[in-house]
Amino acid sequence: MAVTTPTKPADPDYVRLRSTATVDSGKNLLDVKALKMHFPLTQGIIFQRQVGAVRAVDGIDFFVEKGETLGLVGESGCGKSTTGRAILQLYKPTAGAVLFDGVELTKLGGEAMRKMRRRMQMIFQDPYASLNPRMTVGNIIGEPLEVHDLARGKEKTERVQELLRVVGLNPYFTNRYPHEFSGGQRQRIGIARALAVEPEFIVCDEPISALDVSIQAQVINLLEELQDRFKLTYLFIAHDLSVVRHISDRVAVMYLGKIVELADRVDLYERPLHPYSQALLSAVPIPDPAVESKRKRIILTGDVPSPVNPPSGCRFHTRCWKAQQICSEVDPEFIEHEPRHWAACHFPGA
Ligand SMILES: Nc1ncnc2c1ncn2[C@@H]1O[C@H](COP(=O)(O)OP(=O)(O)O)[C@@H](O)[C@H]1O
Ligand code: SF4
Ligand SMILES: [Mg+2]
Repeated sequence: MAVTTPTKPADPDYVRLRSTATVDSGKNLLDVKALKMHFPLTQGIIFQRQVGAVRAVDGIDFFVEKGETLGLVGESGCGKSTTGRAILQLYKPTAGAVLFDGVELTKLGGEAMRKMRRRMQMIFQDPYASLNPRMTVGNIIGEPLEVHDLARGKEKTERVQELLRVVGLNPYFTNRYPHEFSGGQRQRIGIARALAVEPEFIVCDEPISALDVSIQAQVINLLEELQDRFKLTYLFIAHDLSVVRHISDRVAVMYLGKIVELADRVDLYERPLHPYSQALLSAVPIPDPAVESKRKRIILTGDVPSPVNPPSGCRFHTRCWKAQQICSEVDPEFIEHEPRHWAACHFPGA
């Protein structure tokens, strides 16, 4: 696997890339290293000066293997969408490295990035807001084909029809507008648009959160079918653990700009190590009423604190029932406690 080596050994990314075993494994489609995405907070009308930063993503490390689905879960405002966008370089990351198939994206120039972009797509939460209401479905799905110079004219029309068929829509709907479709159908249009450029990696940003419960499973099933058929790799974002259970191979739990736990799905659901994961999991219903009635429910009080001024030490200490003095003083390291099971907590486990 080719790894683009940063130019100067003094570059902090250089040290990280060399020191991380995951980079050279060859199985990883994506390697995210110490990624930070801070949005400047400015004040003043004429002379804007920076008075702080929204630390939306504040130093996260993970990898995504080829063909797998990594679920990314956390309450609203934890930095999940920002993570997805920073990976795809829709935002320019403040720090860190994003390696896609071994190529460092944060250092790529315009044309090289444009070529890479074709390999990575995004599906959005709100299928209506993300589709231009004045464009026909044919133009919406055909646009990326033109932008990347993949098909024109009749060939483009045929390709659009094929894509509509692939996502389970009538191929002759090309002249219709987004408002003529239901929410679930609109999400299928968004999926067809993402698939048009034959990507390898798709960030699915809460793709079913805005849909009726009755059609959520259909869209999940479609995404799974497409993954098998086109050998896709997914980063699947959701705000609760019930949604990602079925679709994920591994799950990362995010809290206030940091990943606090990451494990294979079964390990995370059966033996969550981090109190925040335990709290999220206690809200997931269990179908067996006997097990359900004996379960301890952990109610998370308060909201996620502001990422402008996150709590000291462990960011979760203001809401954690296990917190001790050390928790407000020392930021716990993200440690591999069991093979492929990482957590950042001074008192992990039950
Ligand atoms: N473009 C932006 N400018 C400033 N702050 C932002 C921007 N995008 C997101 N944020 C802030 O970053 C934090 C994380 O947001 P987001 O990534 O959307 O979280 P999530 O997807 O987990 O709900 C929030 O506090 C949000 O207000
Ligand atoms: S480090 Fe302390 S405050 Fe943070 S999750 Fe663990 S026990 Fe809770
Ligand atoms: Mg979001």
